[in-house]
Amino acid sequence: MKQAQADYRSQDIGRRIEFSAPGAAVSLVSDLERNGFSVAVMGESEDGPETSLKRLSSSLGLGDPVVPSLYRRENAEQYASLYHEVQRNPADEHPGFSTTDGQALHADGLADEIGKLKTSILYCVRAAHTGGETVIFNAVAAFAALRASDSEAASALLAPRALERRATIPGVEASAIGPVFAVEPDGSVITRFTDNDTCEWNHSVGSAGSLARGLEFLREAAQEPRYRTTVRLAPGEALIFRNDRVSHGRTAYQDSPRYRRLLVRAVYGRPPRPEG
Ligand SMILES: [Fe+2]
Repeated sequence: MKQAQADYRSQDIGRRIEFSAPGAAVSLVSDLERNGFSVAVMGESEDGPETSLKRLSSSLGLGDPVVPSLYRRENAEQYASLYHEVQRNPADEHPGFSTTDGQALHADGLADEIGKLKTSILYCVRAAHTGGETVIFNAVAAFAALRASDSEAASALLAPRALERRATIPGVEASAIGPVFAVEPDGSVITRFTDNDTCEWNHSVGSAGSLARGLEFLREAAQEPRYRTTVRLAPGEALIFRNDRVSHGRTAYQDSPRYRRLLVRAVYGRPPRPEG
């Protein structure tokens, strides 16, 4: 799998691809295979973000968005939209969507099993005054390096009960237990690596201390430019990422009256592939 060899220090990481240019879908899918993410320049459409997202998702063969199972739970209905607006909202208690704080690395779909939500798209309507970059961590490349250097730690991260994630949205009960990484039948690796306050690590899996070593390795790798990059979206740009292969987060941001950050998020069960 190509993404295990990617080096995020390369020059063309995060390159912008004009959606209207010939072959754009092929280029977007190729970047997604190589790096786990790509950035499309959609331009500011008069028809609104949903129309842009539909054009993009259909060119990538993603089908319709899905609602993560967390947002199908009681008291979470307000987040159940297929095209969800992510912006500061003091009246809302969602720990990620509604604040301007930074967000630690996570996979979308807390209550979904590993690999279920394969693709996420963030479409930028307005950027923040400052900050608000999306952080991308090449989790599967770091895991490949860990497998080569400490196979016991890698095994612990593959254990079926290694990580429990529990919802932190007030009034919403949801949790899911699963591995941090899994190997697919074709040998490719998928992940739900998350490192925030939804996580409870099960240190009884694997040999003594192995899960802690694996976790330590990932935390260090997540600071290395080889595996970590940031994307600051401009209005009309869309970040597409493999939610089952990279972890993502956000830097804190500040809005101003003229620059109030607004992203629209959609998640998909399918992996991207060029249409036709
Ligand atoms: Fe997210």
